[in-house]
Amino acid sequence: MSFSKAKPGRVCPHQVAFLLDNGLRRWLQPPHRILRGHIKPGATVVDLGCGPGYFTIAMAHLTGPHGRVVAADLQPQMLARVRRKAARFGMADRITCHRCQSDGIGLKIKADFILAWYMVHETPDPAAFFHEVQSLLKPNGRLLVVEPKVHVSRVAFAAIQSAAAAAGLIAQAPFTRLMSRGVLLVLA
Ligand SMILES: C[S@@+](CC[C@H](N)C(=O)[O-])C[C@H]1O[C@@H](n2cnc3c(N)ncnc32)[C@H](O)[C@@H]1O
Repeated sequence: MSFSKAKPGRVCPHQVAFLLDNGLRRWLQPPHRILRGHIKPGATVVDLGCGPGYFTIAMAHLTGPHGRVVAADLQPQMLARVRRKAARFGMADRITCHRCQSDGIGLKIKADFILAWYMVHETPDPAAFFHEVQSLLKPNGRLLVVEPKVHVSRVAFAAIQSAAAAAGLIAQAPFTRLMSRGVLLVLA
């Protein structure tokens, strides 16, 4: 069951990646400021549905040289953008790109923190998605889920939280940001 007002399983096309990384967004959603309370130096973190890597570079700054960032996405064109960006910012050694499949993330990792920003509503089966995500977290690991209000109603977001809870991911704190609904979850 999908929770999106948009067509289930429909992803944000890589051709509009420029909409996801621009000056207006940096002003509205400054990536370092948003993430700095969630990522410690040396952490292992995943940018799930990373798109063109808007948050990936900030995540790599925050984990530092001893950390590890996995940027994961369905679309190879998005991952190609992340690779170019990682090289440009001198972060290629700490960022690994991973191509997900539509039926699963397919990572073998234990992460301290996972970011799923504006992507859960694009997954075809959020229940299966959260079940896999919880298996990727270390005990006490955190997952920050943020969804766009334009695609995800209040009711739909409540359903997303229920699917997360059914997978053992417990709401720890709401996350509020202009035009977005979010929640910080912890692996119970
Ligand atoms: C709207 S974009 C958001 C990108 C990024 N998180 C951001 O905030 O800039 C959603 C991204 O999630 C990816 N995506 C959608 N479903 C996915 C899935 N099941 N597994 C991995 N990536 C997925 C899409 O390919 C797309 O790049």
